[in-house]
Amino acid sequence: MIILELNDAARARKMLHCCQWWYLLLLAIFLLALKVQGDDNGVKTTVFLSPKFVLRPGEVEDKFYYNIDFPRGHIAVKEFFGEVVDEWGNSVPLHETYLHHWVIERYHAPMGVDVPKGNSDEGLQLSKYIVVRNSGVCQGNVLGQYFGVGSETRRTKAYVPDPYGIEVGNPVEIPNGFEERWLLNVHAIDTRGVVDRLGCTECRCDLYNITKDQFGRPLHPGYTGGLRCCYDQTQCRVQEGFENIKRSLYLRYTVKWMDWEDTILPVKIYILDVTDSRKSADDSTSLGCQVEYEVESCDANGLGNSGCVDTKKASIVMPQGGAVIYGVAHQHSGGLGSTLYGEDGQVICSSLPIYGEGKEPGNEAGYIVGMSSCYPQPGTVRIVEGETLLLESYYNSTQKHTGVMDLFYILVADSPPKPMLSLLTSVHELIMPSKYLWPLVFIGVAVAVILGVGYLQRNKREDGYHLIDI
Ligand SMILES: *[C@@H]1O[C@H](CO)[C@@H](O)[C@H](O)[C@H]1NC(C)=O
Ligand SMILES: *[C@@H]1O[C@H](CO)[C@@H](O)[C@H](O)[C@H]1NC(C)=O
Repeated sequence: MIILELNDAARARKMLHCCQWWYLLLLAIFLLALKVQGDDNGVKTTVFLSPKFVLRPGEVEDKFYYNIDFPRGHIAVKEFFGEVVDEWGNSVPLHETYLHHWVIERYHAPMGVDVPKGNSDEGLQLSKYIVVRNSGVCQGNVLGQYFGVGSETRRTKAYVPDPYGIEVGNPVEIPNGFEERWLLNVHAIDTRGVVDRLGCTECRCDLYNITKDQFGRPLHPGYTGGLRCCYDQTQCRVQEGFENIKRSLYLRYTVKWMDWEDTILPVKIYILDVTDSRKSADDSTSLGCQVEYEVESCDANGLGNSGCVDTKKASIVMPQGGAVIYGVAHQHSGGLGSTLYGEDGQVICSSLPIYGEGKEPGNEAGYIVGMSSCYPQPGTVRIVEGETLLLESYYNSTQKHTGVMDLFYILVADSPPKPMLSLLTSVHELIMPSKYLWPLVFIGVAVAVILGVGYLQRNKREDGYHLIDI
């Protein structure tokens, strides 16, 4: 009897073990299901408004707002999205207010040096700030922003996929006595009633009647358009008699973020510029990133047989390597796309413009309303330290364009995801659309049943052994 009792107790323990096991498996399936339904588990979404700016027809806004609202603390930024809205919060179409760009920069400022939020007095206290630039690769602080796009903002995917994040606010990176802040630069052009919409958005100097830059320096001979002719408060030519009505506008920006956790893998931000002609980062004999360039019309340069596509190339040396997890280009109207190649000639990412076809915000005809982005399967597209990448930019050169750009924004992770993590991520990605959820649960249950039956069968055998043992 005693022996039997012991045996029963062992079986009961085993039963418990079995059920715990079952319970855990079901719990895991349940949690996985929850994670899918919650989708961006742990990701918070916060919406902010920039300080108000007021524009008249033809007028330009190009201000720097220091210490803007931004989620504080040690966080992972998953996405930054911004668009121009009016006083009622309505999206403003590009043919009314052309968004040349918004740019978000990170910096450290001494605590206690209080600049009012959103102060746009550029240069004030600037010497006391430490700009925290991205990982490169332009000279100095050029293109050092963390986030930034232009007219394509509404339809460009910029979500940082799991398990990655842009790590900010880490207290160990902030010098003693300093705090982390963010600055926003909004460059917008009010093109209501202007004589030449494309010309005004391309900042053609003649349309702005500009011969000196904002610091009073004469423009270089041959400089016919670009940011030096459409700085803050400049005015593009408006049709005579057009009603001069002011308009109040904001950049409404949305930050998706989560509290930092050790399971998040940090990514580095690189912005490559097709005008960068340096041989390496420490090459000071050639021109670094110029940000803008000109596209001559194919008639003018007699290259009609090139199909009127202007191709500009740059070779850019990467200071560090890693896995590319996201890529997107920035181009202006006339852009036909941009491709980034590895040294072996393999395509790292090709980003194509999406042109609008209507009138409504996000679909404005003639404007680039989105850029396609790349999300390589993590670990499949890698850059090695010191690798020379080739960046190519294509523009339609049927007509001349001034002040165009070709920037390539990439996110690079040091470490590929750990196998387990990557499995979870790919499972997560696989089942993102909920239609995959039930098959998954079904598979999970089926696996559980098979394993469970296997366990019971083994259990029977073990019982047998036990009998013999005892
Ligand atoms: C253009 O600027 C010049 C001075 O730089 C001024 O004399 C002239 O009136 C301006 N033209 C227009 C159309 O505003
Ligand atoms: C280039 O632009 C012209 C109009 O300016 C258009 O007719 C032509 O189709 C465009 N070419 C390409 C390749 O998009």
